[in-house]
Amino acid sequence: MAELHTPRRRALLLERIHPTAAKRLSEAGLEVSEVPRALSEEALIKELQGISVLGIRSKTQLTRRVVEAAEDLTVVGAFCIGTNQIDLHACMERGVPVFNAPYANTRSVVELALGQMIILMRGVLEKSNLLHRGRWYKSSGRARELRGKRLGIVGYGNIGTQLSILAEALGMEVVYYDIEEKLALGNAKPCRTLDELLRTSDVVSVHVDGRPGNRDLFGAPEFERMKEGAVFINLSRGIVVNLEALRDALEEGKLKSAAVDVFPTEPGADGDAFDSPLLGLDNVLLTPHIGGSTEEAQENIGTFVPDKLLNYLEWGSTSLAVNFPNLQLPELRGEHRVVHIHENVPGILARINQVLASREMNVSGQYLKTNEKVGYVITDVGRDYNEGVVQELEEIPRTIRVRVLY
Ligand code: NAI
Repeated sequence: MAELHTPRRRALLLERIHPTAAKRLSEAGLEVSEVPRALSEEALIKELQGISVLGIRSKTQLTRRVVEAAEDLTVVGAFCIGTNQIDLHACMERGVPVFNAPYANTRSVVELALGQMIILMRGVLEKSNLLHRGRWYKSSGRARELRGKRLGIVGYGNIGTQLSILAEALGMEVVYYDIEEKLALGNAKPCRTLDELLRTSDVVSVHVDGRPGNRDLFGAPEFERMKEGAVFINLSRGIVVNLEALRDALEEGKLKSAAVDVFPTEPGADGDAFDSPLLGLDNVLLTPHIGGSTEEAQENIGTFVPDKLLNYLEWGSTSLAVNFPNLQLPELRGEHRVVHIHENVPGILARINQVLASREMNVSGQYLKTNEKVGYVITDVGRDYNEGVVQELEEIPRTIRVRVLY
């Protein structure tokens, strides 16, 4: 990454973000400070004075009040997958793009799903639990290989598709069900209905997103339709499965076993009490929402997000921003780039071009993208641009922010 040619900016990283992030940002010329924990609203408002780049993880609440008080904030990096902790609208209205790391832990989740499948299909969990109690139960009964078994993937997105490829490599036959039309990878086959998938799969692994309509996607009727002795895995969202219904299906022997990593309510911190209808069942592998928690995933996040932040600061690229019109931009070569962020109302592009024309500026490229609220216009202009143009662009009504990149 080349040095930033913009004035030296300050970045604040909270919550013990992987060290590669600070390294990458400082190598690019930013002055980086770190606080190893989340800050309260008041403390955050104070700390953000003079800060252009903020990096957080899931515990920092970036509220509208904070965003509106943070005069110098230019861009936010969520060094995690979720962005619920951020008021994305407030950021958008202030012209502050937010970037996260949507794919950084995909592989980690997939590997855990595969490991769980092997452990559960082989009956390893039950046998380990028995042995802990001093019982030597050496039997091949109900211990099966994955090879040749049918895996049903519900939700064929980033995780579902990668699981599909690796499960086939282990010799599984893969079917999937998604509410959207999805390209089948390898030899995987789509099911027309969830019902078709449930009735024929030896292992059902759920990888849907957490949209409200997915609450209780799996309840008593769905477990009832599954094959006798099937294995069930949920590494997606807690709300997706009715845990009482799952417990009943396991106790009745309808399902052989299950692995559950996500829960409808999860403790806020280590040491907080945890309760679940699944506690105490020997054939359930419980994990505390660690599907994506690996050193590799953290390291991926530590490089992926800084690159997005720097591409925005240096080139204006908003590709993969979660709250902003997405524009992938070419590098700047011997020119200036004028970034104009405005409310999405008709006529602004014309006003921008009037200003540039009246100052006889040579435009070599222009890019525009809008979403329902914000318009994002990038104009590449010749080296000898007139300083006064920035003020004139700022004065266009409904302008949110103007930046010039060198
Ligand atoms: P994604 O958005 O790429 O894929 C989700 C897929 O599910 C989409 O293709 C969507 O069309 C499909 N879908 C949604 N509702 C459906 C339904 N009712 N029936 C069938 N298909 C449906 O998401 P990604 O990245 O693959 O993540 C999947 C899930 O894994 C998410 O819920 C995410 O929060 C969770 N996750 C859990 C982690 C953990 O630590 N356990 C770590 C990372 C992700």
